[in-house]
Amino acid sequence: MQIKVLDHYTELSKQAAHIVIDTISRKEDSVLGLPTGGTPEGMYKELVEQYKNGEISFSQVTAFNLDEYIGIPQNHTQSYYTFMQEKLYSHIDIDSKQTHIPSGEATNLELECSRYEKLIDQAGQLDLLIIGIGTNGHIGFNEPGADIQATTSVVHLAQSTIEANARFFDRIEEVPKQAITMGLGTMINKSKHILLLASGKQKAEIIQQLLTSQEVKSELPASVLHLHQNVTILLDREAASLWE
Ligand code: F6R
Repeated sequence: MQIKVLDHYTELSKQAAHIVIDTISRKEDSVLGLPTGGTPEGMYKELVEQYKNGEISFSQVTAFNLDEYIGIPQNHTQSYYTFMQEKLYSHIDIDSKQTHIPSGEATNLELECSRYEKLIDQAGQLDLLIIGIGTNGHIGFNEPGADIQATTSVVHLAQSTIEANARFFDRIEEVPKQAITMGLGTMINKSKHILLLASGKQKAEIIQQLLTSQEVKSELPASVLHLHQNVTILLDREAASLWE
């Protein structure tokens, strides 16, 4: 596990974008795993800028998102589909056929999960999987208690996740209670390099828990990262404040 502490969120975002660009420069048809949420926004902004400056092309890249809500339509302002279009895809040259997000609108959600997992298998290993972390230790939407070997699944969001995500909705009642998420097993077994980003003092406690013990336990889903050989963690000073 390689851990790097950056002074500010802006530097964390630039460093994260640099890792993405480096991955694609080495392999232009890289397969990426991508998160949504507040944390990666700066990284996406940086990637769009680098694309516009001609530093990078995404034309051969394939991308798989970590998760999608169940219970809101794909074109909802807060769907992860919309997030990805707005923050990244509509600004770069990625082939829309190569951008994958599970469908929370599928009539058969179990089938949708196996379809998604199969697509990941067909793409080969994820060259770079980028993740954020919830204040309760979730990665993707794998909440405390999640099966460490799980593949893509339908999950219930923890109350703390619903509360954290309420900031993106008008009312907390509108936050979906279920989602489809890439499983912990998918992440650990099917990626070559995992990049975890954490920013802000609200992440300090969970980062301290994650980094002070090597123990892998389902109560702290992110602890599965200790099972992977190639993990990079980028923290800003606030997120690192209880650990350093
Ligand atoms: C998002 C995702 C979540 C977030 C996590 C942190 O696709 O899978 O695990 O990464 O909830 O969210 P932010 O970045 O908003 O603090």
